[in-house]
Amino acid sequence: MTPAVVGRRRVVFLLALLGFQLSGVVCEELRKLSVSDWWEKSGFYQIYPRSFKDSNGDGIGDLKGITQKLPYLKSIGVKAFWLSPIYKSPMADFGYDISDFRDIQPEYGTLQDFKDLKAEANKLGLKLIMDFVPNHSSDEHEWFQKSENRVAGYEDYYVWHDGKPGDDPNQNDPPNNWVEAFRGSAWRWSNIRKQYYLHQFHYKQPDLNYRNSKVVEEMKNVLRYWLDLGVDGFRIDAVNWLFEDSQLRDEPPSGESDDPLRPEYLSHIYTRDMPETTDMVYQWRAVMDEYKQQHGGDTRVMMTESWSNLDIVATYYEDVNKRQGSNMPFNFQLILHLNKNSKASNFKTVIDSWLNIVPDQHVANWVLGNHDQRRVASRMGGEHMADLMAMVGLSLPGVSVTYQGEEIGMTDYEVSWEDTKDPAGCQTSPTDYQKYSRDPARTPFQWDNSSKAGFTSGSTTWLPVNPNYLTVNVDYQEKASNSHLKVFKKLIELRDEDIFHDCLYGVMAVGDNVFGIVRTTTPLHEAPVYLTLINIANQAVNVTTQTIYSGFSVSFTSDMKVAVASVSSKRSEGNSVSLNNLELQPYEGLVLRAGAAVLMLSKLLSLLLVFTVFLLW
Ligand code: GLC
Repeated sequence: MTPAVVGRRRVVFLLALLGFQLSGVVCEELRKLSVSDWWEKSGFYQIYPRSFKDSNGDGIGDLKGITQKLPYLKSIGVKAFWLSPIYKSPMADFGYDISDFRDIQPEYGTLQDFKDLKAEANKLGLKLIMDFVPNHSSDEHEWFQKSENRVAGYEDYYVWHDGKPGDDPNQNDPPNNWVEAFRGSAWRWSNIRKQYYLHQFHYKQPDLNYRNSKVVEEMKNVLRYWLDLGVDGFRIDAVNWLFEDSQLRDEPPSGESDDPLRPEYLSHIYTRDMPETTDMVYQWRAVMDEYKQQHGGDTRVMMTESWSNLDIVATYYEDVNKRQGSNMPFNFQLILHLNKNSKASNFKTVIDSWLNIVPDQHVANWVLGNHDQRRVASRMGGEHMADLMAMVGLSLPGVSVTYQGEEIGMTDYEVSWEDTKDPAGCQTSPTDYQKYSRDPARTPFQWDNSSKAGFTSGSTTWLPVNPNYLTVNVDYQEKASNSHLKVFKKLIELRDEDIFHDCLYGVMAVGDNVFGIVRTTTPLHEAPVYLTLINIANQAVNVTTQTIYSGFSVSFTSDMKVAVASVSSKRSEGNSVSLNNLELQPYEGLVLRAGAAVLMLSKLLSLLLVFTVFLLW
């Protein structure tokens, strides 16, 4: 072999190596999604019943109000809604303290009103998901009263303990240092039973004892009861709090607070995420699947609430033996890790962190807010971010979950100390309640610009109405030529296209301020491409084809058309956009569409090099 041939081979080898580098490192491979079940394709919506719509003028939302507004849900394109609790409750934690798991809170209506709501939802093709609160009942629940009085069979329905001897001759000290979620000891002395009971939330929310098989069976029967009433699934509340350390060991300080009564003060290694929890979730999955087998119908869907580390959250989907659990372990990453100071790279990291834990055959979900958190627009810096975050939540393949009001850009309202109702706020002080109260995200839904935002015909509301209701309301935004509501509707419409159900997709940061999502499908040369670009900065940013192509292992025609534009954009649907020269305005968000010209650039490059090797060898 002559030295010239050897030299040529070396060059060719180096080029081939470079090609593979480009395909594997510089350009990320697109991920694949393929879904078929009803819920995997759906937009979900959360209703907080107390604040959605009041039908009888008492200033409190109710079931008839929800029924009246179902056509609105239909009109915005969501396919399913989940209801925060509507069960009978003394309202210490606004419905999460349940005194009868099988009946409706009279302020909200009757069981017949529930049946009417379900029938109307069926008519409109909307699925109804109930909140299931397994960790605790109200202290006014019949089981608790029986347990407190040591009625035979009920003694161990809750977690009881004598406590530790202390200075007080009449009453022991609490068994350990555990604290409740709203501040203060997690143990309360019962003068009747002369023992402490555990309450990880409010003292009126005693923890049920899941080490008692009777409790396990009772709660399964609660699921069956609502399945018989036709519900389409459950959102499972505070699921990682179900079990506690059976030795009741003290929890170590976390170093995150100086106040020993605050939940952040401790590392919750003995009260949350106990290994038994996921087994319980798999058992509930089995109840729902068995119900489907016996009664037919569509998959009953399970959504679970657990603010745990991602490796733990992943186990809610399934275990190593593929035993199935939650369809949607809620993905709170966008809530936990994005805020108004986030950069585009933070968006990518946070989104990839979730995509990386979703097991094969399962689907991602995207939650932007709920009744326990500050509203997404406020967290991200203001109403101008509403469309951009909707573009993220609704452009990402998988299930989107919208909290009521996000679609019209509702923001937090700073409720005064006097008006504060949430125990998480009330159990603090007038100086720091705003840090903890969840009321700002729970103010009444804003329907129109009439008095009380059309939420009620009465003169008072249980929480004050946000004064921005004059423009941030459904009626105004339906009539406006462009609005958050219209943007939301267009985004959700796009999700009905096939490209949402079988697609290749990827996310990228274009510099500091532009975040992008690409979505396409196979065969690549025929498939449309959707490119979502949001500029999260208050300044114009130039985007070029080079920057986009270097982030995704895909290239496409630079001439695209606007499919959806944020309210902040001067562009409209159908406008042409050239990626060769695209200046995004401050806080502009666009969903762009291109026709069929799609090539896997890096793959093509690799192929070309391999072909060259072949020719030159
Ligand atoms: C969940 C609910 C929250 C409630 C708590 C106790 O986190 O979302 O509102 O206070 O559980 O049930």
